[in-house]
Amino acid sequence: MTEPASTLATKKLEGKVAIVTGGASGIGEATAHLFAENGVKAVVVADIQDDKGRLVTESIGSHQCSYFHCDVSDENQVKALVEWTVQTYGQLDIMFSNASIVSPSDQTVLNLDFSQFDRLFDINARGMAVCVKHAARVMVEQGVKGNIVCTTSVAASRGGVSRTDYIMAKHAVLGLVRCGSQQLGVHGIRVNSVSPSAIATPLTSTCVRRTRGKDIGKVYGPLTSLKGIALTVRHVAEAVLFLVSQDSAFITGHDLSVDGGLISLPGPNN
Ligand SMILES: NC(=O)c1ccc[n+]([C@@H]2O[C@H](COP(=O)([O-])OP(=O)(O)OC[C@H]3O[C@@H](n4cnc5c(N)ncnc54)[C@H](O)[C@@H]3O)[C@@H](O)[C@H]2O)c1
Repeated sequence: MTEPASTLATKKLEGKVAIVTGGASGIGEATAHLFAENGVKAVVVADIQDDKGRLVTESIGSHQCSYFHCDVSDENQVKALVEWTVQTYGQLDIMFSNASIVSPSDQTVLNLDFSQFDRLFDINARGMAVCVKHAARVMVEQGVKGNIVCTTSVAASRGGVSRTDYIMAKHAVLGLVRCGSQQLGVHGIRVNSVSPSAIATPLTSTCVRRTRGKDIGKVYGPLTSLKGIALTVRHVAEAVLFLVSQDSAFITGHDLSVDGGLISLPGPNN
């Protein structure tokens, strides 16, 4: 008997083992849920917000999801995360390297605070590289033709009126994805990125304060070609699912924009 399309659609990741960094909140949380809906054997939520991470694990169910405390700026913690995942579930097929922060201050060029800059780079750029390195090493060791996706941003290919450190780090992640895809293709490992525009999450709440309290959708709406729809974390998770599933089997080194045709980043008057 032919299975109904709705059942088939939930099995894109059957038997796969995934790590989602920054999985306790926002895009990572939505992606962990979507991976579980699509039949992963296990998704490991890695984050520094232990209570929120454990809540995500509980809502997905311990049969399919675990929480692992991991600060991605610490290579030893990332190595331990990958080792624990392989010891517990036997393999690693998917790394969604997604954890990032925004600096507390505006970080315009004239007022760059380099202690904030360094902290942000440790997480947003170096942390991504550490996650790609350790995921790829174990995939190569085990002969797994795995999938790695990093979260970049529409800010990875444009300048902005503030958040210079964040925009610089996102540009760096694009370089990481391009190098990773070229170097790991020989092992059958694909490396891609997803670039969302703006969604209200704890990360963007800092930026909303800077837009004088304006709702983030109201700031980006006029700058987006596509009208009548607002970006959600689920839209981004669907793009990640595409990139880690067989639906994108011949795609590597690609940065997939999920931005509704964004024309430009907000300027000084937005
Ligand atoms: N929300 C947006 O508008 C937007 C737009 C473009 C790109 N992004 C990117 O999407 C990704 C997810 O952001 P989000 O909007 O879901 O934000 P979020 O704040 O909801 O989630 C980020 C998660 O990363 C975790 N994290 C922070 N530092 C960490 C560290 N050192 N180690 C491990 N985990 C850490 C946080 O605890 C949090 O759970 C980020 O890479 C962000 O740059 C977001």
